[in-house]
Amino acid sequence: MHHKDIARSAPLRGYVRTLREQELPLLRDHLLRLGPHSRHDRFNGFLDDSFIERYAAKCASDGTLVVAYLEDGVVRGAAELHSPERSPDGLPEIAFSVEAVVRRRGVGSSLFQRLIAEARLKGYGALRITTSAENQAMRALAGKFGAQLNFVRGESTGIIDLKPPSQLELVKLAIAAPADSLRAAINLNRVYWKAVLRMYGWGRAA
Ligand SMILES: CC(C)(COP(=O)(O)OP(=O)(O)OC[C@H]1O[C@@H](n2cnc3c(N)ncnc32)[C@H](O)[C@@H]1OP(=O)(O)O)[C@@H](O)C(=O)NCCC(=O)NCCS
Repeated sequence: MHHKDIARSAPLRGYVRTLREQELPLLRDHLLRLGPHSRHDRFNGFLDDSFIERYAAKCASDGTLVVAYLEDGVVRGAAELHSPERSPDGLPEIAFSVEAVVRRRGVGSSLFQRLIAEARLKGYGALRITTSAENQAMRALAGKFGAQLNFVRGESTGIIDLKPPSQLELVKLAIAAPADSLRAAINLNRVYWKAVLRMYGWGRAA
């Protein structure tokens, strides 16, 4: 087995958490480690270090929330939640970057999940994601979280709806639930009703 394959199949050692404001230099270091291709995908063509340094400094000063994947105190992946005031249509913009050494192992998905939780806590109803039309990886990741991407001038842009699930969706989820958890819910119901009936003296065996 090639050493790269061993690294790919090794379990991930890190974890996902939100960065504190004073930790934001870790975002800069992570973005500077991205190679030219990733920088192109992430920043739509901007490649030089000075651009990334200015970008990271701006994130640190304008209240951007950063969810990070950390290994041994080093940020290897990041999801950014930009404040809605910076966006032309008032929708908060999100962006993702995962270093090549840990890609395709679910880091992007974990960051996305945590970012959605943070956005819900902030009370946002929807998020906007923009990526280049040929960015297969980001399009797959965004699609996984329900974004419908539309193409405008070589860019694909999509909206992630954060509204709570409707009653109908909850019913669909219950129907799709694995048999065991459905059975557990039914059993719990039975115990509850037995207790209620006992309380009223109707549940006793004659
Ligand atoms: C986009 C990016 C963040 C994905 O990170 P990741 O950690 O590899 O993502 P995941 O492992 O969670 O993969 C998510 C889904 O996308 C799919 N995917 C990932 N890379 C892919 C690729 N190169 N081609 C096709 N699909 C891909 C995976 O199959 C996965 O789906 P699955 O869970 O059903 O298998 C990463 O490739 C990256 O940082 N790219 C450079 C920066 C960039 O393009 N940012 C986007 C601009 S906002």
